[in-house]
Amino acid sequence: MILRLIESVRVVFCYYHNIQFVWLDTLLACQYLLKSPYRISKHFLKKRGESNIYAYGQTPLSTLDRISKECRLLSKDVIYDFGCGTGRTTLWLTTFVRCRAIGVDFLPTFIKKAKRVQRVGKAHRVSFRAEDFLETDLKDATVIYLYGTCLEDKMIHKLIQRFMSLPRGTKVITVTYPLTDYSDGFSVEKQFKGRFPWGKTDIYLNIKN
Ligand SMILES: C[S@@+](CC[C@H](N)C(=O)[O-])C[C@H]1O[C@@H](n2cnc3c(N)ncnc32)[C@H](O)[C@@H]1O
Repeated sequence: MILRLIESVRVVFCYYHNIQFVWLDTLLACQYLLKSPYRISKHFLKKRGESNIYAYGQTPLSTLDRISKECRLLSKDVIYDFGCGTGRTTLWLTTFVRCRAIGVDFLPTFIKKAKRVQRVGKAHRVSFRAEDFLETDLKDATVIYLYGTCLEDKMIHKLIQRFMSLPRGTKVITVTYPLTDYSDGFSVEKQFKGRFPWGKTDIYLNIKN
């Protein structure tokens, strides 16, 4: 609770000087006044029979900021936010890194709301897809952000198969585990710590060989 409060204050001080972001973040918050993303996700996964293996969580924006600096994300990058949730991280990336960002999530309610915010907020360099990230088209991808701490090994192996078609040098940022634990098609360029709702954890910058 205290940590969430500190993060909210940090967000206001560090990012609310950008009026476009204030507008997007407010529009997004309004989408979840009646039902929180946590409840929406729980309901969706219960219907799919997956509620026992997975819990929704968000990357604190201050941690995303650290990630963008440590991984040297640039405005020329095309970043895929794999499992974008509400799209807050995707919207932050496009606003502050000034890159093209594509949020992909299989939960249709998240994407419907994110698209509404994108349209009303006139965020032109961002788009959202209601798709399974195993099937999404990775055209032009230079960076993939995967905050998938609850993904099963089977799913990570399938994702790695997808990543094999990516050009050499593509960055894949993972939280908790490096892709080198699963495949020799990647090398870890950097490892650093970041704060998440459950505490500090390792973040890996994996590079496609
Ligand atoms: C931990 S949340 C991360 C949200 C956001 N990227 C962030 O960092 O704040 C993971 C998201 O992945 C989505 N997800 C899980 N499996 C997926 C799949 N196979 N295809 C697309 N989205 C998926 C979930 O619906 C959830 O919204």
